[in-house]
Amino acid sequence: MKHIQFENWKLLLLDQRLLPFEEKFVICNSFEDVANAIKDMVVRGAPAIGITAAYGFAMGIKDGENPEKVYKTLLNTRPTAVNLKWALDRMMKILKSGGDAERLKKEAQEIHEEDIEVNKKMGEFGASLFDKKVSVLTHCNAGALATGDYGTALGVIRSLHKKDLIEKVLVDETRPYLQGARLTAYEMVKEGIPHFVITDNTAGLLMATGEVDAVIVGADRIAKNGDTANKIGTFMLAVLANYHKIPFYVAAPISTFDTTIESGNEIVIEERGRDEVALINGKPVIPEQSQVLHYGFDITPGNLIAGFITERGVLKPPFDL
Ligand code: MRU
Repeated sequence: MKHIQFENWKLLLLDQRLLPFEEKFVICNSFEDVANAIKDMVVRGAPAIGITAAYGFAMGIKDGENPEKVYKTLLNTRPTAVNLKWALDRMMKILKSGGDAERLKKEAQEIHEEDIEVNKKMGEFGASLFDKKVSVLTHCNAGALATGDYGTALGVIRSLHKKDLIEKVLVDETRPYLQGARLTAYEMVKEGIPHFVITDNTAGLLMATGEVDAVIVGADRIAKNGDTANKIGTFMLAVLANYHKIPFYVAAPISTFDTTIESGNEIVIEERGRDEVALINGKPVIPEQSQVLHYGFDITPGNLIAGFITERGVLKPPFDL
């Protein structure tokens, strides 16, 4: 099922908040609807929000809205993933060179299709890193749902599975939003890939007992020196992998590299609302008086990353793209 569909100037998004139990689409009729869908996490994952925003931009221009307002509203939905800016800049460039709404629609469709192609290439490069069956640990959801289709980290896992090189996938549940438990596990079930959902605090034990051959994660923004923003908890995994001498890979398209920044210090980390931590299934799990610190992402230093799996091959910093 295609999770991002554009039909008759409406954007249909599979509501990722309801997965894995319900497969329902949210219909966006305007660029504001698209911005709200990104903000509310109907759609999430760096490349997927870039693609979504590109369609939203085309919709705004078709409706005669002010381009700067459309650009800013979509850009301000989520701060960390650079793919959002990358896609919107590409759309703005087309508009400034005289492109009309139809041309912008075509550009958004191209961004979408290219992303799928790029993921498949990444899958091949990533799979070529391994020549025996492996157990791979992954965090968050860097799969079809987080991209146009196929996925980045899960794209590599898909390609490995096709070559019969997956022993098992260890799926970090990824508290508090549970992208791993809900979305990655959903994708693994659909694809028939052997997997175990683990709590986020299990990785150390499994690495120490030899159950993990490699860690592969996605990324939201990669600085020139390789520092990588990804879902909160990624940094802990990289430190653990380093301690256990397990290779830690980041799979991401070139659109996730931000060569305008030297290091991760320049990356804005999204802070999210209290309820995501304080409530489980709508019920409080912490005292009412307690405050929470809830960062959506962390920064993994580039020197902990064995390689960056991209559509141009497996790269190492410093990047000059
Ligand atoms: O808050 P999310 O779910 O948008 O965060 C997503 C991630 O951190 C992913 O790992 C990242 O975007 C890579 S997706 C291919």
